[in-house]
This record gives sequence, C-alpha cells and structure tokens, in this order.
Amino acid sequence: MATTDATTGGRIARSMQMYERLLELIPGGTQLISRRPTRFALGVSPVVASRGKGPRIWDVDGNEYIDWCSAIGSVILGYADPVVDDAVRAQIEKGANFSITHELELELAELLVERIPCAEMVRYARGGGDACAVAVRIARGSTGRDKILFCGYHGWHDWYQAANHASDANLDQHLFPGIEPIGVPKALAGTAIPFAYGDLESLADRFEQNAGEVAAVMMEPMRSELPPEGYLEGVQQLCRDHGAVLIFDEVSTGFRPSDAGVQTVLGVVPDMAAFAKSISNGYAMGAVVGRREVMEPAAQMFVSSTYWGEAVGLAAAVATLTELRSRNSAETMRQTGVALKQRLNAVADEVGVAIRCRGIDYHPHLEFPVDDPVLNNKLGTLYVQEMAKRGNHGYTSFYLNAAQGAAEIDQVGDAAREVFAMIGDSIEDGRVDDRLEVEQRQEFFKRLVI
Ligand SMILES: Cc1ncc(COP(=O)(O)O)c(C=O)c1O
Repeated sequence: MATTDATTGGRIARSMQMYERLLELIPGGTQLISRRPTRFALGVSPVVASRGKGPRIWDVDGNEYIDWCSAIGSVILGYADPVVDDAVRAQIEKGANFSITHELELELAELLVERIPCAEMVRYARGGGDACAVAVRIARGSTGRDKILFCGYHGWHDWYQAANHASDANLDQHLFPGIEPIGVPKALAGTAIPFAYGDLESLADRFEQNAGEVAAVMMEPMRSELPPEGYLEGVQQLCRDHGAVLIFDEVSTGFRPSDAGVQTVLGVVPDMAAFAKSISNGYAMGAVVGRREVMEPAAQMFVSSTYWGEAVGLAAAVATLTELRSRNSAETMRQTGVALKQRLNAVADEVGVAIRCRGIDYHPHLEFPVDDPVLNNKLGTLYVQEMAKRGNHGYTSFYLNAAQGAAEIDQVGDAAREVFAMIGDSIEDGRVDDRLEVEQRQEFFKRLVI
C-alpha cells in the first residue's frame, strides 16, 4: 500500500479527524452501515458531509463531488430540490406534528391509492425497515400465521435479522456474509426463512416445508437486473396456492423505474408493497400500501407511532411524488443511465480494458475482467479511491437521481478515462497494491444481483 494522504488525512483531513471522534461517540461511527467509510476508500473518500445541491455534495473539507449513491437511494430529484424544500418550509411554518390527524395524511393516501396498482389502503412509517416491519406485522396479523419467506434486504428489525439464528449463512446472499444476529431474540429462530431469487423451486420447497405456516413472502421484486421471464408470476401463484400474502419491498427500486412504483413496470400486482427512501427526496417517510382485505385487519392491531403522521415528511412525499410525475423524472433517469453506460463502456474500449458497465438503467454497475474476488475488490477499491480524487463519490455501482445530466456524465467519463487506464495497468502488471493508498473496502450489502 502506498503511503500518501490516507495516513495523514490529506485532502480529507477534517473528515478524518471528525471520523475519529465519531467512532468515540457513536458505536460504528455511522447510523447506516452503507455509510461506513470502510465501504469506500477510507482515507481518500469523503467521510463527513456538509451540504448538497442537485447532483453534488460537499464534504467538511470543502471538496465537491457528484454523489453517485444519491444519499443511498433516498434522494431521487437531487439534493435540496427547490420545490420539495419549499413545500417542507411551508409545512414547517404551519407546524410539524399534531394531536389530531393532519390533512396531508389523506392527501398522500389519495395519491398513493390513485397511482399504485396494489394500493387500496395505506399506512405510514418513517423509513424502509420501519415500513417492512409494519407490512410483516399486518401480514402476520391478517393471516394468523408467523413465518415469513424472504428474499433480498429488508432492514434492521428483529423479524428479518432473526433469519441468521437458524443458520448463520441465511443472510449471506441477501445482505452480506458473517452477520451475527446479536441482540435479536433466539426465540425467533426459524420464523424468517430465505429463498433464492429467480428460483421458483427454492420457494416451492420452502412452502412445502412450512405448509400452513407461511404468512407472507417478502421480496425485493428486482434490484439491478430485470427478473427472469415469468418468475414473479410464479411467485404470485405459489402465494395464492398457499394462502400467503405477497409483499414487494419497493424501498430500493422506489419510484425510479416509474412514478407509480416498480410493480407497474413488472406487471405483477402484489398484495402489499413497502416504500420509503425516494418517496420523499431524503426526508424521513415510509408507506405500506395494499389490498383492502389484507390491510383492513390492521385497524385491530397495535401498529402505532407518534411520528408516522408527522406532517413535514408527508409534505415532502406529496411534493416529491407530484414533481416526479410532472417532470417525467423516470424518463430522465432512464436516459441518464443509458448515457452513463454508453460513455463508460466507450471509455473502457478507448483505453483498451474490458471493464463493462451493465445493469438496469437507473442502477447500473461496473464489472471488472478478473475472476479472483480479492483482486476484484482491490480493483474496486482503486476505482473508488481514484474517482473520489476526481470529484466522483460512489461505489462500483450507480444509484441515479433526476438532477444528474450531461455535465455529470462528462465529468464521470473524463475521470473514468484515467482511472480505467490505471486499472488496466494494474491488471497487466499485477501491481494494484502499489497504487492502493487505502485498505481494501469492505463489501457489505451484496444482495440479489449486486
Ligand atoms: C429493499 C430495502 N428494504 C429496506 C431497506 C431499509 O430501509 P431503511 O434504511 O430506510 O430502514 C432498504 C435500505 O437500503 C432497502 O434497500
């Protein structure tokens, strides 16, 4: 490993000082595992943010970056969107939380019911894990059954993390390997059971092994690739055959493929769906929507929280959903994704390295031409390190937002020309370690496709 800025702090000196203090005061240093600096190039990538505007963020050292992670998916229109923020400011003037239901609860419910195919009734939450936990509680309550078959990532709550009590590899393919369900009651062992994405037999087996006990199938219907032909229809049929509720976790797909949710694009209408992140352009908000028959029993269940109806989040959600439609943002993100893939692949061809940028338009990822997973991760770390120096913050995948456009494609393309060449040299001369200024990044969240 080369000795450079990384050891001394260099261009991110203030970030690194603050990170040390954060580690002393906050266990793990961050609130979200995806924000842990060890996932990026620690010592070179920005650690602490000061502000954001449109597609860009600034760190506490004053460095500017395009944020290719879009606030881990939660910013969909761009940072500090003027229309959403005006709606938020207007709501702040009128009050945030009330002793009685705020009128925006109805307005947002009407909007969701009108737009999302499976939505006949609505409950709110404050985040993605929160929304998934509400959906699971309602599904369990309305079926009178306990077990959940799941695929993908669904948050930090006990119902999901309990999967690793039955086998410590249960979350390997859905979240990341090596998770210990510390603090999750062992009594929940066997209540959340994984199945393999794209494999109907795996799901059918789980249903057979747990006949009459499955409340719901909770799944990310897709992430970075389209589902195999007929797969989701097959999942739906199995749920119907076994009397289980089909829940789509649309937290990460959000409203990127369509302003009415991914279920409109995929053509399979689940019984329930969970939304958060992009629903409110970064403000804390979540929603669980579903068919009346499944949702209505929730009136008898203890599903209740003071902040689920807080009006700033509601105002942000109404404004975000309205703007997504009037700006046709899904199409903008599609075009940006197509242009991004074309540019990066052209740059790779130009410098003569077989790197490919592939995947669904709004969430493409890079593939390096090496099989060895350790080398792959080192090259990924080198990419993150060198792109950060050139004003691009991100992983080896891209989570687009509608504020990104031609200027960002040009900037990432120009940076990638130099960085891909460096990666090509490292593959050829085997000296990636000499070029790495940081420890290898830790590859958390390896779920579904990437
Ligand atoms: C599909 C999915 N579900 C649930 C969650 C959890 O959301 P939150 O971090 O808001 O609790 C995430 C977060 O990445 C997600 O991608």
